[in-house]
Amino acid sequence: MMETPLPELEAILLVGGQGTRLRPLTLGTPKPLLPTAGVPFLAHQLARARSFGVRRIVFATSYRAEMFSEAFGDGSAFGLSLEYMTEETPLGTGGAIRNAAEALTCGPDAPVLVLNGDILSGHDIGDQVARHVAGQAAVTLHLTEVEDPTRFGCVPTDDAGRVTAFLEKTPNPVTNRINAGCYVFTRSVIDSISAGEIVSVERETFPGLIDSGALVLGYADASYWLDVGTPAAFIKGSRDLVLGRLASPALPCPPGEFLALPGAKVSTEAKVDGGTAVGARAVVESGAQVSGSVLGDDCVIHSGAVVTDSVVGIGARVASGAVLRDVVIGDGAIVGPGNELMAGSRVWPGVVLPECAVRFSSDV
Ligand code: GTP
Repeated sequence: MMETPLPELEAILLVGGQGTRLRPLTLGTPKPLLPTAGVPFLAHQLARARSFGVRRIVFATSYRAEMFSEAFGDGSAFGLSLEYMTEETPLGTGGAIRNAAEALTCGPDAPVLVLNGDILSGHDIGDQVARHVAGQAAVTLHLTEVEDPTRFGCVPTDDAGRVTAFLEKTPNPVTNRINAGCYVFTRSVIDSISAGEIVSVERETFPGLIDSGALVLGYADASYWLDVGTPAAFIKGSRDLVLGRLASPALPCPPGEFLALPGAKVSTEAKVDGGTAVGARAVVESGAQVSGSVLGDDCVIHSGAVVTDSVVGIGARVASGAVLRDVVIGDGAIVGPGNELMAGSRVWPGVVLPECAVRFSSDV
């Protein structure tokens, strides 16, 4: 696909949420900084925004705000200029955008790109901005189609692409198009959001603009899209990046069955595949099987353990004979031999699950 480059454009990145659905991973690290295919999640978004000509990004921070500037500094390592605007108490998506806009330098008529900090998307940001400018819209929303729209609010449009309503979750959605979390705002529209107040763009700003007759356009497309808000989606995002299902300029090595960061020791007798990311200095012993998973720095997967579609936290250990599928193991936790953890289990940081000796009644 030909992508549309942009003249210099400013962006706001929303990264202040607590990431509650990803606990315990987000207890110590905000969701946008979780290691994803070998780099902090945001590195993929920053590199992609830059590839479209974005040069200046204002981070709207709140939860663990200081960790963002520690990770990305002034942005020069990424070819970007980064600013940080922190809310003392979270202001919601609209309040955060309004607060971050204080650091923008563009004029009232300029387009401003606004990105949720937990979305992986392959859509053509440049084309979205070009449509916004050509249509002289107040806001242009990226829309994506999902199989099951009942889990989301849905966003119907008319034949000309104008958004006609911004509907809350319902068991009978009128369309399977949903808000994909990437907006182009005309700067003056951001300035019209009340300053210093808690505002939701989804519940207040967008419905209010539509009711007032402002032009809100939908930019619908069918490219790769994923909200990494849940453990299963987060793991899928990392896996898809490692496998190359979504191209990212920030991927630390060419796409393949797995990637291993410096100092990782993966036994040639282990089976590691399905887009697994192996953290720095992590160890995967012989006979272990790891597929489609995210292994944190310094963790150890002992001989004969089986780990599928799971996250193993920093410094955690998974003993021989343990089996993990669709689970999250917190930093420093230990899964003793014989444990089988399935579908959605979460082990909190530092917890030790002792050896699980399985006995059948006939053995007694
Ligand atoms: P959950 O608690 O799991 O729902 O996660 P979340 O709050 O991080 O995510 P949600 O999907 O509701 O938010 C969408 C995006 O907006 C994410 O990138 C959040 O970081 C960001 N966000 C949500 N609320 C705020 C806020 O009050 N301030 C700022 N600065 N960002 C926010």
